Amino acid sequence: MKKSFGPHGFVAIAVAWAGVTIGSELDPAGSAARGWTVLRTKSYLPADLDQEVFDELWTTWEEPLRSRAEQAPLAERRRMAIERYGLVPDPTDPARPLQYVVDAEGRWTMSCLACHQGQVRGVPVPGVPNSTYALETLTEEVRAVKIRQRKPLAHMDVGSMFLPLGTTNGTTNAVMFGVALMRHRDADLGIVRKPPRFDLSHHDMDAPAWWHYAKRKSLYADGFAPKGHRMLMQFLLVEQNGPEKFREWEEEFRAIERWIESLEAPPWPGRVDRDLAVAGERVFTATCAECHGTYGVGGAYPERLVPIAEIGTDRTRLDSLTATERRALNDSWFGHYGRDAEPLREREQPEGYVAPPLDGVWATAPYFHNGSVPTLWHVLHPAERPVVWQRTATGYDDARVGLEIEAFPEMPSDKLRSAERRRYFDTRKPGKSAAGHDFADVLDADEKRALLEYLKTL
Ligand code: HEC
Ligand code: HEC
Repeated sequence: MKKSFGPHGFVAIAVAWAGVTIGSELDPAGSAARGWTVLRTKSYLPADLDQEVFDELWTTWEEPLRSRAEQAPLAERRRMAIERYGLVPDPTDPARPLQYVVDAEGRWTMSCLACHQGQVRGVPVPGVPNSTYALETLTEEVRAVKIRQRKPLAHMDVGSMFLPLGTTNGTTNAVMFGVALMRHRDADLGIVRKPPRFDLSHHDMDAPAWWHYAKRKSLYADGFAPKGHRMLMQFLLVEQNGPEKFREWEEEFRAIERWIESLEAPPWPGRVDRDLAVAGERVFTATCAECHGTYGVGGAYPERLVPIAEIGTDRTRLDSLTATERRALNDSWFGHYGRDAEPLREREQPEGYVAPPLDGVWATAPYFHNGSVPTLWHVLHPAERPVVWQRTATGYDDARVGLEIEAFPEMPSDKLRSAERRRYFDTRKPGKSAAGHDFADVLDADEKRALLEYLKTL
């Protein structure tokens, strides 16, 4: 599998990981390299767990995995834990995951990379979303071990008792964490005491690829938020971080933004049938480009907001934020008190979702904002989309272009333990519909085949 990554892909990866080895004092302040170093090495939140907790997590697993872990040497047991929670081993130190900053005292702290750094075919690709992260399972099992070890619970351990973190591995309720946290801040990010809300519309999302950032003018599925390093800091809104911390860390987030902006879509590592792709480009121009733009030299991205009735994908994300909440975010310190948001005011009450750029789309499965569709072939064949599906750990489907999956007509059992249940994507659950976006229905089989080939080249 890994061998099918061409030399080009490896160069991009090697360049990115080289940043890890450069000492932070050598990276110019504000540079992309500094941003990457900061992402990998700086903890902005209280620690989630320590090494001692991590090394005992296997004791909470179901059989036969638990017994296998018990008999395995420590290094193998750690590898099993990294895989179970959908983390990606750091190529420079495989005992540590890319998603957590591990400090000299062995404390593990979640970073932006938890959701924003994944792998494709088992190889980390800079900026690809982490489509395997099992945040809720990890948090549950960490909590169980901490209680046994008589250790204090951290913010996630407690928060997850009130707020679902992610009901399917690979997707998270990240947007609603943001809403819940922003509720306790004023426009200057000062702490405001208010009772929590219990009427939030929780739903899970698939994080977008970071290499789209440079192309976009607005952020998020509904495109209401202006770009900017401050907007990227919402993830730090835990109570322990007072307003002064945000000002103090601003400079580092300029560097993080630079890193995100510097990323490029990875090229398809396999072979492409050029003639077929050329035919596919014609189909794309006629059927898809009005929303998704054009690619290659002279390409243009329209960043179109498409009404929900026209797009027909799951609408929970759209309805989960109120215009007041969107405006409050834009009018806060995060949006320079409204200055950055002026061109986006209409989007504070959006009608639908933005058609995302499709650069590197072969690498960003699963598809749609909720991650409900496992391959590009399924995007092009709406009637064939699986009701319930389960992916393999790192398998890639070259023919359908996307995740290697097993499809089911329904959940295989209603008695699964929650950790097991989260391995299945059930499109009948709220916020998880795989319906809509049936624009390819006008195409015949040959046109779809050509289009699929062309999509590999973006
Ligand atoms: C728990 C998972 C999670 C973590 C941690 C996280 N994000 Fe995200 N991020 C998301 C999701 C989900 C979205 C999509 C939200 C939407 O479209 O409504 C997103 C959106 C974004 C976007 C917008 C991309 C676009 O094209 O619209 C950027 C940029 C971003 N995050 C940066 C960061 C940074 C920087 C951090 C760390 C400070 C971070 N994220 C931490 C899940 C996460
Ligand atoms: C009328 C506008 C429109 C047209 C036409 C259109 N799309 Fe889309 N497309 C969207 C929107 C909006 C989304 C985001 C939907 C969501 O996430 O819920 C999207 C999402 C996608 C995605 C998922 C991207 C991701 O990273 O999750 C793919 C792939 C895609 N479109 C391919 C196509 C192809 C191929 C065509 C032509 C057959 C096409 N689209 C035609 C608006 C359009």
